[in-house]
Amino acid sequence: MTRRKLVAGNWKMTGSLAANRALAAEVLERLPGHLPCDVVICPPPVHVAAVAEVLQGQAQLLLGAQDVAAEADGAYTGDVSGAMLRELGVRYCIVGHSERRQHQHESNLAVAQKTQRALDAGLTPIVCLGETAQQRDAGWTDWVLGHQLDAVARALGQRLAEVVLAYEPVWAIGTGQTASPAQAQQVHAALREQMAQRGVAAERVRIVYGGSMNPANAADLLAQPDIDGGLVGGAARVADDFVDIVEAAGRSAMPGAGAMGKLE
Ligand code: PGA
Repeated sequence: MTRRKLVAGNWKMTGSLAANRALAAEVLERLPGHLPCDVVICPPPVHVAAVAEVLQGQAQLLLGAQDVAAEADGAYTGDVSGAMLRELGVRYCIVGHSERRQHQHESNLAVAQKTQRALDAGLTPIVCLGETAQQRDAGWTDWVLGHQLDAVARALGQRLAEVVLAYEPVWAIGTGQTASPAQAQQVHAALREQMAQRGVAAERVRIVYGGSMNPANAADLLAQPDIDGGLVGGAARVADDFVDIVEAAGRSAMPGAGAMGKLE
């Protein structure tokens, strides 16, 4: 079963309107044609509409959001609904990023509701799961991820197969400390197994890695059999670096890439 690779850039809360527009245009310009993977950029919410304009008239670079409301419509001040995002041309939506779990106190239940809303609105949710350094040191990684996955699985049932999962070890986000390819592969395989145990067609589900992915480490991470792409923060804000990672994903998806996924 070959799963189409996905590289998503999370621009977080950075950059002016002009800078966001310029970065989108730069990524678009540098992206090679006919990539065998999906490429997504997730600008800050207030700049999504402006970036949508930059991306108009092409289908290669897709638009993503960094969050979505847990409710469909109504008196939820400050929230942005899935339907509103979809209307702007958004296709993917990050849900349950650890920064939101930490700073906005998003619970597993809220993450599950948001995932459901995203699907209902026709968005593909990228559901983030990950353990802290303390949890990893205590040997709790599988348990923590299972718990986070359970909430989403309970809400979605068989629709769990429609999401993208992002394994984002909290200790690797924005720290320059990446999970080794072997460490990440082990967790991705365990997550796939956990999904299979829930009766989901796990071999179809894309599981991407996030946490200090950069042009130097991307090829080795993306060559792992259960790593289906990347959710990229810091390196996504440098067009050349982001496109390098996209190219590494493209190479790893090509027939004959070999066990290491590298052609060069
Ligand atoms: P990072 O962020 O690549 O800067 O570690 C990843 C993320 O937060 O999704």
